[in-house]
Amino acid sequence: MSDSRVAVLMGSNSDYEVMASGLRVLRELEIPYEVRVLSAHRSPHRVALYASEARERGIQVIIAGAGGAAHLAGTLAAHTSLPIIGVPLVASALGGLDALLATVQMPGGVPVATVGIGKSGAVNAAHLAARIVALGDPTVAAQVELSRQAQAKRVEGMQADIDERLQQDKL
Ligand code: RP5
Repeated sequence: MSDSRVAVLMGSNSDYEVMASGLRVLRELEIPYEVRVLSAHRSPHRVALYASEARERGIQVIIAGAGGAAHLAGTLAAHTSLPIIGVPLVASALGGLDALLATVQMPGGVPVATVGIGKSGAVNAAHLAARIVALGDPTVAAQVELSRQAQAKRVEGMQADIDERLQQDKL
C-alpha cells in the first residue's frame, strides 16, 4: 500500500516542466501523489504492470501526460478500471494536436478523460483528480472548495487592477 492517492505519469523526462504545473496544484491541495516516467512505446510492459497494480496500492486516479503519438493514457486505461486523465503535450511539429487526437479518440468502453493541451491541461488534470478524490474524502473536498474560493478572490483582484488602469488611461 502506498500513501499516494494520485499518480502522475509522463512519457518522458522532457514532459516534466509542463506536468510540474499539475504537481504544484496537488501539493497546494495537500493530496499525496507519486510521479513515474513510463512510456507506452518505450517501456510498454512496465506501463501494463503499473496500471494493473495501481488500485491495490491505493491509487485512486491516474494522470498521464504524453506528447506526439500519445498512447500512454490509453494504454493505462486498457489495463485498469481506475479513472485515467490524459494530458496531451506539445512534443512535435504538430503542436500538440497529434497528442490531443491520440489521447481523446478512445474506443467506447475504454475511457480517458482528456484535458486541454499543455500547461492548462496539466493544471486541470490535477484539479479534476482532486475532485474525484474529494468524492470520498471530506478533507480533500474542503481543500477543493477553498481553492475555488481563492480563484474567485484572484478574479476580484483583477477587477480592481482593471478599474485602476481604466482610471489612469481615462477610459
Ligand atoms: C512521448 O514522446 C513523450 O511523452 C514525450 O512527450 C515525447 C517525446 O519524448 P522524448 O523524445 O523527448 O523522450 O512519448
